[in-house]
Amino acid sequence: MGNESSMSYKSRKKAYLYLMRVARNLNLYPRRPMMRYIKQHYQQPLVGVEIGVSEGMHANNILSTLSIKKLYLVDPYTNYSGYGNGSLDFEKIYKNAQKRLLRFNSKIQFIRDFSEITANQIPDNIDFVYIDACHRYEYVKKDIELYYPKVKKGGLIGGHNFEIRFKDVCKEVLEFADKHSLELQGEGIDWWFIKKML
Ligand SMILES: C[S@@+](CC[C@H](N)C(=O)[O-])C[C@H]1O[C@@H](n2cnc3c(N)ncnc32)[C@H](O)[C@@H]1O
Repeated sequence: MGNESSMSYKSRKKAYLYLMRVARNLNLYPRRPMMRYIKQHYQQPLVGVEIGVSEGMHANNILSTLSIKKLYLVDPYTNYSGYGNGSLDFEKIYKNAQKRLLRFNSKIQFIRDFSEITANQIPDNIDFVYIDACHRYEYVKKDIELYYPKVKKGGLIGGHNFEIRFKDVCKEVLEFADKHSLELQGEGIDWWFIKKML
């Protein structure tokens, strides 16, 4: 009998969870389902946008686990009535993001402004847009409507927090799917659409 078979189910599960935690911290695989889907189904290198970057944790995971030609990072890094309400130290958050992503400097471009006014700074025909910014209805609506035209046919637009506690995200995503007859895809709390080829 080898060691493997003598390990109890509980110990194996513990070992598995430990290894997954190590892998996650090492950024060895895409943490979010939409990025895993992209890794499995799309030819790389890719051009993408993340709307809502904060300290760059997810951007770091994208850049570490996918082959990226260019990643546009849109975030105003400022408190406003729709987000933060004066409680967040955005200068520090921005510095932390810059520091975290330093090694990817040739592949990233921070666009420090509100997503609703930066869409025209993004080139056309990009591979993906990932939305994780202000989760209020009117903001999610603008993000999807303004950035969907930027995505190439066959590319993806999606984001985070399709979940009960963010009803506005769910509402707008479902409305957009309905309006454009798109098939909603998702896993966990990530959602995404693939832009039709026609
Ligand atoms: C949940 S955090 C992003 C977390 C990041 N995606 C991650 O997983 O590491 C949300 C971010 O969205 C930004 N944000 C809020 N309103 C925005 C807007 N109108 N346009 C772009 N970014 C916005 C905030 O400044 C904040 O940094």
